[in-house]
Amino acid sequence: MRTIVVTGSASGIGAATRKRLIAQGERVIGVDIRDADVQADLSTASGRRDAIARVEHLCEGRLDGLVTCAGLMGLPSRPGRVLAELNFFGTIEFLAAARPWLARGTRPAVVAISSNSTTAMPGLPVELTRLLLDGDPAEAIAYADKVGSPDAYAATKLAVAHWIRRQATKPEWAGAGITLNAVAPGKTETGMLAEGRADKTYGPLIDAFPVPVGRSAQPEEIAALIGFLLSPDARFICGSVYFIDGGTDAQLRANDFPAPFPAPRPKQA
Ligand SMILES: NC(=O)c1ccc[n+]([C@@H]2O[C@H](COP(=O)([O-])OP(=O)(O)OC[C@H]3O[C@@H](n4cnc5c(N)ncnc54)[C@H](O)[C@@H]3O)[C@@H](O)[C@H]2O)c1
Repeated sequence: MRTIVVTGSASGIGAATRKRLIAQGERVIGVDIRDADVQADLSTASGRRDAIARVEHLCEGRLDGLVTCAGLMGLPSRPGRVLAELNFFGTIEFLAAARPWLARGTRPAVVAISSNSTTAMPGLPVELTRLLLDGDPAEAIAYADKVGSPDAYAATKLAVAHWIRRQATKPEWAGAGITLNAVAPGKTETGMLAEGRADKTYGPLIDAFPVPVGRSAQPEEIAALIGFLLSPDARFICGSVYFIDGGTDAQLRANDFPAPFPAPRPKQA
């Protein structure tokens, strides 16, 4: 039996992942603001510290997997800082804290949840992504408030994807036998989507979003991919970002991925 932590385990993709893993005989430690083994608010620094300490106690400093689903969508009524804190810092601070526990685990694997909004949202505020990854956290959080949460959402999810790709290949992750990958779901029928549909500005946009397969996903379909990335069959997968979005990304940006390695520029005389 492996021990796997799932954040955002109370609902949607996290709940479907938890259920799938338990059905496979794994031990799951759920972390969420409600209805979880570890109840904590991951959108605050003190909540994250508390959750990390309690998870370390429960797993005795040894972990086989970690899935970071806790997240909120951007809405006009929600401050941008909440998304910077939860979607980005709530993911990467948990990952950084769990790294030594994972290094002691069996076939340790991490799956972070990004989003296909990273490539489907025109004019994403890339400055916020830059500040989250490379700037001062307080400045990034203040900037997220400035752009507002509807725009901040995709920028926080792009930062998660880039953080995963940057870290995955390092000696302390790949070199320590820990696989680090991300899943980028498209429209999925969860509490988050219901919350978006209830918003009078956002609701009509959600159902106008193009999905070539003609429907939204069920959370169990996303959990199946997460389950595969945690499995022994996925040990060669490192630093990948998997889009699972019914074809939206392919439709909007067919030729943008894979992007070929550009030829080196000729040296100036
Ligand atoms: N549903 C979609 O269409 C979609 C698309 C792309 C990406 N995602 C991502 O998938 C992940 C899971 O979302 P979902 O769609 O299952 O939504 P959901 O609302 O069903 O689940 C999110 C979970 O996060 C928890 N959470 C919220 N605030 C928290 C906090 N401050 N501290 C701790 N936990 C908190 C909630 O209680 C809930 O259990 C999110 O990161 C989301 O951004 C969802």
